[in-house]
Amino acid sequence: MKSLTTRELLRTAANQLIVTKQAVDLDDGLLQVELLFGFATSLKRSAVLALGFEKPTAMVRKIFHTLLTRRLDHEPLAYILGEKEFFGLPFRVGTGVLIPRPETEILAEIAIERGHVLQKRRTSTRFADIGTGSGILAICLSRAFPDAWVHGIDISDGALLWAKENADRLTTSEKLTFSQGSLLEPLQKLGINDLDILVANLPYIPSEEVLELPEEIRQQEPLVAIDGGVDGLELYRNLSLQLKGILSPEGAVILLEVGNGQISWVEEIMKSAVKTITSHSVISVQHRDIRKIRRVLEIRYGIE
Ligand SMILES: C[S@@+](CC[C@H](N)C(=O)[O-])C[C@H]1O[C@@H](n2cnc3c(N)ncnc32)[C@H](O)[C@@H]1O
Repeated sequence: MKSLTTRELLRTAANQLIVTKQAVDLDDGLLQVELLFGFATSLKRSAVLALGFEKPTAMVRKIFHTLLTRRLDHEPLAYILGEKEFFGLPFRVGTGVLIPRPETEILAEIAIERGHVLQKRRTSTRFADIGTGSGILAICLSRAFPDAWVHGIDISDGALLWAKENADRLTTSEKLTFSQGSLLEPLQKLGINDLDILVANLPYIPSEEVLELPEEIRQQEPLVAIDGGVDGLELYRNLSLQLKGILSPEGAVILLEVGNGQISWVEEIMKSAVKTITSHSVISVQHRDIRKIRRVLEIRYGIE
C-alpha cells in the first residue's frame, strides 16, 4: 500500500473488510476505515475525506495498518476507537464491557419521559439501572435529573470501571452511584424501598444462540453481558423474584429491554410478579424500537 493516495488506501482497506466479512458493503467498509484513519491522524472524518489524492506519510500508514489489522482480527470498531456514541454522548468502551447498541436508546427515552411525570409528584426521585455495563442508562438519567438518586448496578467489576470512567467524564451529580452485585441485591443491602423507576437491559440471548453470533461479538464482548441462559429469560425471571420491598408502594415503573420475540414471555413473568407486591392495578405496554421490533416492556402501577 506504500505509494497509494489516501483515497486508494481507504478503498483497498474497505475491500479487505468486506472480504473478511467485517463490513457488510462498501459504504460500511469505507465508513469504518475513514474512522480508523481519522483516529490514526487525529482528524475529523470530513478532513479525512478532503485528503483524497494526498499520499499519507510512512508513519500514518504504519499506524493505520496496525489499527486495520486489529479490525481484521475481529476487534470491534468501538473498542479500537475507544468510544461509542449513545444518546448523543461519547461513551468510553473497551474490553470487558458491552458496546452500547442503538436499540437501547428508546429505553433511555421512555425512562426520561416517565421521570418527568414522576418528578411533578415526588419530592425526590430514585432510579436504578440494573446491568449498567458502560453506565449509559444511569448516566443519561443522571444528566436528565441531576437532583435524583441514580443507582447503577452490575455483576462485573470490569464493566463498572468503564461506567465510573464515563460518569467522571459525563456527569457531575453526587447522587449517581455504582455498586457491584447481582440484580437487586445491592439495593436490598442499602435498604432501599422506594425505587420509582427501574431500568434494565440484562443479557437475553439464549445460550445456544450465543454460539451463532458473529465472532466479533461472541469472542470479544463479555459473555456475562450477552448470555441469558437456556431460554434467554433467566435474568428476568431472577429479577422478578427480587422485586418485593424495593419498589415505591405509591407507584413505580419498570422498563426492560428484551430480545426479538421475547416480550410476551417477559410480560407474563413480570406482570404476575408485580401483581403480588401491589394492590394498584398493573399496566403493561410494549414499545417498538427503531426497527419496529417490540423491544421495551413497560410495567407500571400507581402512575397513569
Ligand atoms: C446487555 S448488557 C447491557 C449493558 C448496558 N446497560 C447497555 O445497555 O449497554 C448486560 C449487563 O448486565 C450485566 N449482568 C449480567 N448478569 C448480571 C447480574 N446477575 N446482576 C447484575 N448485572 C448483571 C453484565 O455484566 C452486562 O454489563
